[in-house]
Amino acid sequence: MCRRIDSTGRYHRFVMADPLVSVAALLAPAFRQVAGPVAGAVVDPVVRPSDRADAQANGALALAKQLGRNPRDVAADVVAAARLDGVATLEVAGPGFINVTFADDYLAASLAAIAADELLGASQSSSPLTAVIDYSHPNVAKEMHVGHLRSTIIGDCIARVMTFLGHRVIRENHIGDWGRPFGMLIEHLLDLGEAEAAHELSVGDMNSFYREAGRKFAADEAFQVRARQRVVELQGGDPETLRLWRLLVHESTRYFNSVYARLGVLLSDDDLMGESAYNHMLGAVVDRLAAAGLLQRSDGADVVFPPGFVNREGDPLPVIVRNRVGGYPYATTDLACVIDRVERVRADLLLYVVGAPQAQHLEMVFAVAQMAGWLQAPTEAVHVAFGNVLGSDGKMFKSRSGDTVKLSDLIDEAVARATRQVAGKNPELSPAEQSEVGRIVGIGAIKYADLSTDRVKDYAFDWERMLAFEGNTAPYLQYAYARIRSIFRRVGVEPHHVRSVVPVLGTPQERSLALALLAFDGAVAETSTRYLPHRLCTYLFELAQAFTAFYDACPVLKAETDELRTSRLALADLTARVLAKGLDLLGIDVPERM
Ligand code: ARG
Repeated sequence: MCRRIDSTGRYHRFVMADPLVSVAALLAPAFRQVAGPVAGAVVDPVVRPSDRADAQANGALALAKQLGRNPRDVAADVVAAARLDGVATLEVAGPGFINVTFADDYLAASLAAIAADELLGASQSSSPLTAVIDYSHPNVAKEMHVGHLRSTIIGDCIARVMTFLGHRVIRENHIGDWGRPFGMLIEHLLDLGEAEAAHELSVGDMNSFYREAGRKFAADEAFQVRARQRVVELQGGDPETLRLWRLLVHESTRYFNSVYARLGVLLSDDDLMGESAYNHMLGAVVDRLAAAGLLQRSDGADVVFPPGFVNREGDPLPVIVRNRVGGYPYATTDLACVIDRVERVRADLLLYVVGAPQAQHLEMVFAVAQMAGWLQAPTEAVHVAFGNVLGSDGKMFKSRSGDTVKLSDLIDEAVARATRQVAGKNPELSPAEQSEVGRIVGIGAIKYADLSTDRVKDYAFDWERMLAFEGNTAPYLQYAYARIRSIFRRVGVEPHHVRSVVPVLGTPQERSLALALLAFDGAVAETSTRYLPHRLCTYLFELAQAFTAFYDACPVLKAETDELRTSRLALADLTARVLAKGLDLLGIDVPERM
């Protein structure tokens, strides 16, 4: 599909994707022409949505200031210079706005073009990146908490979207599989017996496993001595200790994998890149910092002071890279991680989908990596932060007993609740179909609730709201999709038979739906470049609403003519495809019936 305007300004060859993006592209040459050779003149058309027209370009205001001219005159000159016959009508309004209204034929042709496009109008990146996405990262022998759930869901969505747009995505699951607690965990494993321990861990009874190990460590001095000795053996590479450690890791990742499989996330064992994977690099990290002249001694530890970080008293804050007893803390592993991702993986972009509380830790790690020259523009590290999950009481989300909620229980409950709802609404479905649709809706509801709010904010976990069939929810979008599929079943038409139809846009609702469909490109692009899944969610919700308004106003089955019926079927089919693709990018399935 050709989305560029050539230098002769042959706009008619321009196929539109996102209306706002294309208005900017369509008007840019006219703005440049009016700006003339004025040095530094602003040529940004400043396109905004409008309720009077399809879009509004406000760039003439800033340009007029630079040219020292009247803004309405500048706007009029832009309109005269933009030869958009057959594409859009332009009108100067207010103090110098340009209202843009697309020609119906142009919209219809653009729709036909995205219908023929595998990417549904989305533009693949012209400069694909190698992006490492660090997400999920639960801790071995510990229950995954809802923060890990958020990271898993958000990270997986970003991985899907960036892959869709042609980037090379490398998923890394930086599990917590190393450190001092493994001494007590291994000793507890021995106390329990290997078979019993393996069983507890693989079914996800990690809370009690970890708690029991911690209790013994606190209460029993002999156990403490054994645990400390184990840490030494683990670090020294004692084969038997390593075997027991591997058992802990293996049984825990089995449990994590079962959660991933149920959630339908992309992570597999191939993506495991736990803390232990960087052990062999830790000494070198410290050596390289020393060679760069960045290392300082502070209270017997080796530290780096990145400028600009101070504690509450205003004293400089260090990043400890080797502690007093020669151990390497979390930050050193993360520095090794940066080196590995840049030097071995050759990544241009490092994304860390990690909760907001770790913001300072990551900022300091990035700062040290920059000082050492490991992280240099254009290579970029970004903390894709997210807020806490709260219960309906506004406090941190916990189970009734006050424990971390077990994720597999949470998933069970979502599916059970959704299946009950589906059974109530769709008694005609067989029990097997009901439970399959219930599974799709329940998992979709959890994921969508998480993805649809601005990730940096806290979000309240609320079963009623996430499972509602009305509002900005997964069930609403899944239902919109299933409804379109049922329309096709009723008319007995195969969707691909209407895929090359150029639709008629005779009513305001058909026109609005067309504009909504064409905005897919922009929504995906924004989600990808700003790592904001909720933008894609909001877009899909608006699309589904535009479809509902269209379906209420424009009869499909009883359309006045065959041509109109086919046209409306084509609009419905394209809507279903964009909904399904959009949900797929969020990691959410669609049911064929609901
Ligand atoms: N395992 C850590 C936790 O549970 C998260 C790891 C995040 N990734 C990283 N490279 N630091 O908090």
